[in-house]
Amino acid sequence: MTSVTHPVRLTERINRIEPSATMAAVAEAEKLRQQGIDVVDATAGEPHFATPQHIKDAAIAAINANFSKYTPVGGTVELKDAIIRRHAADFRSTYKREETCASVGGKHALFNVISVLVDHGDEVILPVPYWVSFKDMVRYVGGNCVLLEADESQGFRVTAQMVERLITPKTKLIILNSPSNPSGAVMSPEDMTAVVRLAHERGIWVISDECYVYLNYTGKNFSVGSLNEYRDRFLVVGSLSKTYAMTGWRLGYTLGPAAVVGAVQKLQSQSTSNPTSIVQKAAVAALKGPQECVEQMRREYIELRDHVVQGLRSIPGVTCTMPEGAFYAYPNISAFLGRGGVKSASDVAGRLLRETHVVTVPGEGFGTGEHIRVSYATSKAELDRGLERMRKFFAAL
Ligand SMILES: Cc1ncc(COP(=O)(O)O)c(C=O)c1O
Repeated sequence: MTSVTHPVRLTERINRIEPSATMAAVAEAEKLRQQGIDVVDATAGEPHFATPQHIKDAAIAAINANFSKYTPVGGTVELKDAIIRRHAADFRSTYKREETCASVGGKHALFNVISVLVDHGDEVILPVPYWVSFKDMVRYVGGNCVLLEADESQGFRVTAQMVERLITPKTKLIILNSPSNPSGAVMSPEDMTAVVRLAHERGIWVISDECYVYLNYTGKNFSVGSLNEYRDRFLVVGSLSKTYAMTGWRLGYTLGPAAVVGAVQKLQSQSTSNPTSIVQKAAVAALKGPQECVEQMRREYIELRDHVVQGLRSIPGVTCTMPEGAFYAYPNISAFLGRGGVKSASDVAGRLLRETHVVTVPGEGFGTGEHIRVSYATSKAELDRGLERMRKFFAAL
């Protein structure tokens, strides 16, 4: 009998998107490590700190107390209240339980919100450089990204005027991410307010991705959540991942109008259901417990940022804007394009990887072809090892 092989036919929507560029770089680093190679990994999209002890203890206590059943889809009342109170205390927001949904990480929350707001053919304004997943989430649901090219010499500043120029009758949503992954750029409260006001006037949605909101080094910590007069047009998406060094735990949330948050919960009820029960208990401990750990980590990131930016700027030909938040530097390597056969940021990152075993993420994944992303969520010693190898590499190019 001859066997018939059937081709694997996937959906058009899954074929529209690409695997995350950051995940690809992380996988490359892992491959080299498996071969016993001494890798310097600058791809980390996560804190190098351990989760604080009191948060771990809460999870252990939850396991021992058999807190192991399904919970309400959008999280327990205890967790929703903890999210609401933390945000209110830190940013003067005034959300209610029906305006709050906990999800399996910020990424999940963003995926849910984009899924319930963006239809086929809708346009979504996305400042460049953008976090890799925004583009693919929008594409997955059938939307079109309209890229807002921010000026590097202005610290990648995004203003309401720049947004306004891109608005068309099809514009549905603007995605803001401040502090930004990958550039570390922070929008001023005035610029953020102006964008939210404009969106409100035009009936356009705003998602403010606050994944790094506690890693803002400007001294002007701000959330659009405080802008009560415009609250019917924006959603805040938060995450415990970076704030409390909890990336693997998977806990994020959405705050916004009840109609949208209700739809997010409906979607979640048909996919993941609730975030893991014991993680919810840990999240309550994180949000209600002492916040000194957040400040300690923030202080260390500032030191690491200063160290790595100084190191990168001391490499002849490399320029680097000063990141004002998050834990990434985004050096410009355009001076090397055309030298030694390198034509793109991907070529630079590829050769850095193969020739020096320093793993970075090329800018193309974030929408720019002249940068590489260097994570500084690591020790100074590790940064120095990476900087030394980069210095030799660029000198020889
Ligand atoms: C800008 C941005 N938003 C959201 C996320 C999602 O984080 P998580 O799903 O771990 O909460 C990340 C993670 O790297 C991020 O960089």
